Amino acid sequence: MKEIKNICCIGAGYVGGPTMSVIANNCPQIKVTVVDKNEERINLWNSEDLKNLPIFEPGLDQIIKNCRGRNLIFSTKIRENIALADMVFISVNTPTKKRGIGAGQASDLKWVEACAREVANFAKGHTIVVEKSTLPVKTAEVIKEILDSSTRSQRKDKPLASFDVLSNPEFLSEGSAVKDLLEPDRVLIGGESDDAIISLNNIYKNWVPQNKILHTNIWSSELAKLTANAFLAQRISSINSISALCETTGADIREVSRAIGTDSRIGSKFLASGPGFGGSCFKKDILNLAYLSNHFGLPEVADFWEAVVHLNNWHQHRISKLVISKLFGTVSGKKITVLGFAFKANTNDTRESAAINICKDLLEEGAYLKIHDPKVEEKQIATDLAMNSIMSIDFKGENQSNKKKQNWEKITLLNNSFKDTDAVLILTEWEEYSEIDWQLVSNSMRHPSWVFDARSIVDPEKVLEANLKLWRVGDGSL
Ligand code: NAD
Ligand code: UGA
Repeated sequence: MKEIKNICCIGAGYVGGPTMSVIANNCPQIKVTVVDKNEERINLWNSEDLKNLPIFEPGLDQIIKNCRGRNLIFSTKIRENIALADMVFISVNTPTKKRGIGAGQASDLKWVEACAREVANFAKGHTIVVEKSTLPVKTAEVIKEILDSSTRSQRKDKPLASFDVLSNPEFLSEGSAVKDLLEPDRVLIGGESDDAIISLNNIYKNWVPQNKILHTNIWSSELAKLTANAFLAQRISSINSISALCETTGADIREVSRAIGTDSRIGSKFLASGPGFGGSCFKKDILNLAYLSNHFGLPEVADFWEAVVHLNNWHQHRISKLVISKLFGTVSGKKITVLGFAFKANTNDTRESAAINICKDLLEEGAYLKIHDPKVEEKQIATDLAMNSIMSIDFKGENQSNKKKQNWEKITLLNNSFKDTDAVLILTEWEEYSEIDWQLVSNSMRHPSWVFDARSIVDPEKVLEANLKLWRVGDGSL
């Protein structure tokens, strides 16, 4: 069994950064180097001021402070660090393919393949390659083939190398990444070589109880990751579908969630109805599962999982339509406050955020949006809305024909978000939004004014007392 002294992780993203920081912090005997081809990202990981780390995760700054420069290094020197490593984690992005066979469904594995080739070319001695990225079942076969073909064709100028491949998918959630990594429900290690499995097992054993470290075959491990995300997303689509029914029948989704969640077979987690799931992975992983199912001749299985994504899209557009309908059927020229742009609280990540589709719908209908989010930067919002805050549409208001106006702006101070707006739309459950003084807000809005709470974080009584109209997701009593 190989004792691991040097780890190299390729990919310094939302997974590579926090995962390796936690390994380094718990294993001072191991040197952990996180490499990335994106120099700007690496520079941010090396920022003196920990507020400038490229991703925001509660508790991560302290861990980085503890071990960066000690046994945690962030670097752009990919080849050199592969050569030094006993174990290489592949933690690069695996987005949905945009073109070619499987476009719109299959995962694009070009970055994973590029990593396998780099490892094949520059690794020395026996190297354990660990799939940390979420990958379609059977990807390990591709990686192994690339690695093996390199060992077969080793030239004199190439260092001698041999490889084992393991699957070790990551289950962390953004916003609670550090906690999830420190106290995981389980760590999953799939592989064929018992020695390699034990080497990785022994790293986790430094802080994870052995009974939480599961060993499986490599295909089960790859498939379990896709399945876990598909099941979680399915629960959200299920509860969101029922929220629409609640609104038309007089039921309340919070009561329904509580009632079904107390059944120990169902469980209470992941039953909060919201604006629809976002994040970089749920949609991509379900579509990938559907693609694989079709590929293996199981179209009924593919249809089942695709419906989860369809429901999610429908639900997001349902919310924008509802806002428009409550505002007398038109939002043209009306100002709307949007609270939250991240796909969930405690992260600056906006990938697949419900806010993107909902804001685009409202902009399309001519609304002017005042967008607030405590962590998301204006340039990210501009990229997501694919329009620039100062370019934007021709706004032909009554006395302003042909005058160029911007159609959205990022508001930095929460208290400045409400002046003259007709509606407040809450899309991310940031804690500060649950502490808003609705009387003060009401005083600065244009009446009649609405609060649309897609996250169930406001106190309905306080909103109604402040002479504001209220819609809450799945609340049929309003
Ligand atoms: P990310 O986009 O934040 O980071 C990936 C990084 O890999 C980027 O910085 C990119 O520059 C780098 N990269 C790509 N190709 C490279 C190469 N050939 N050499 C060097 N660097 C390269 O992605 P992420 O969110 O960290 O996700 C990574 C993987 O983990 C994905 O497969 C994802 O499905 C999975 N995952 C993500 C999460 C999450 O919460 N984000 C959780 C569990 C699993
Ligand atoms: C999710 C999984 O929870 C992780 O286990 C997994 O590792 C990760 O995907 C991944 O593979 O990328 P993440 O996307 O970070 O993690 O966040 P979640 O907490 O799962 O939330 C996803 C979306 O569902 C968010 O938009 C969230 O607001 C929404 N959600 C979640 C609800 O609408 N209701 C809920 O009850 C829970």
